[in-house]
Amino acid sequence: MKEVIRSDQQNPLSSLDQWEDDLLARYPDPKTINQEKDTEEFRNYESSEKASVKEFYRLQHINQTFDFVSRKRADYLKFDQMEMSVWEAFDFLNKLVDDSDPDTDLDQFQHLLQTSEAIRLQGHPDWMVLVGLFHDMGKVLCLFGEPQWAVVGDSYPVGCAFSDRIVFSEFFAKNPDVHHPLYSTKYGIYEPNCGLDKVIMTWGHDEYVYHLLKDYLPEEGLYMLRYHSFYPQHRENAYDHLMNSHDKEMFKWVNLFNPFDLYSKSPVPPNWKELKPYYENLVAKYLPAKLRF
Ligand SMILES: [Fe+2]
Ligand SMILES: [Fe+2]
Repeated sequence: MKEVIRSDQQNPLSSLDQWEDDLLARYPDPKTINQEKDTEEFRNYESSEKASVKEFYRLQHINQTFDFVSRKRADYLKFDQMEMSVWEAFDFLNKLVDDSDPDTDLDQFQHLLQTSEAIRLQGHPDWMVLVGLFHDMGKVLCLFGEPQWAVVGDSYPVGCAFSDRIVFSEFFAKNPDVHHPLYSTKYGIYEPNCGLDKVIMTWGHDEYVYHLLKDYLPEEGLYMLRYHSFYPQHRENAYDHLMNSHDKEMFKWVNLFNPFDLYSKSPVPPNWKELKPYYENLVAKYLPAKLRF
């Protein structure tokens, strides 16, 4: 049975894709940036979806506090929700149908497969193909009852000052952490250049999928999973002061991954029947028979 996620006060987006469409408008594909079609799409986006995206960021920015994130980590990183095989997990994720246009939108799996196929066609390592296939698996958090703002949206550190380079940063004024004596300072609970592994990020699909797969993929792939929505750093360099030299090296991989995520969407679904044997082998090579969520 499909579970249509309806927009409501906590979930202003009619589709999780609205967040990604906003990213595309903010960071257009440099290859097609001058084409008229994109200008047109950008204009349409501006008029119809801006208000719900803005409301979405308002909710994210006021609610993602250090305490909120700590509670979610304690809940979800026990991985006691359910156990599924990889293929059951994709079926489960596909129950997530947005109410924008449930019949015509490509499902979650198609976005994942388009991302992984774009990576495979450019000859990148097979573990990176697997990262493409899995990177949004954390969106199952919506099916566990989490609001949109605790699943998607740009990610950023908590426990230290919010950067004004984060989109709609004016909404942080109502986040209680901006009045906290320590969390409101530049470094907060962290040391200068302490390394991102010590930094607690907003709660969402990136952090969750990183923990889900952290025992099975090379470190480069884990950085891609964990920081793929960290636009404030990989596009805006707003948190150089928390990164160490190893993070900077690893972010080359995050940057390599980002265009595949953002620019691989196409209305034509890949031919799953033909591709299935390749992906079954790939999954068996890296992942156990069952994953704990
Ligand atoms: Fe994502
Ligand atoms: Fe994605």
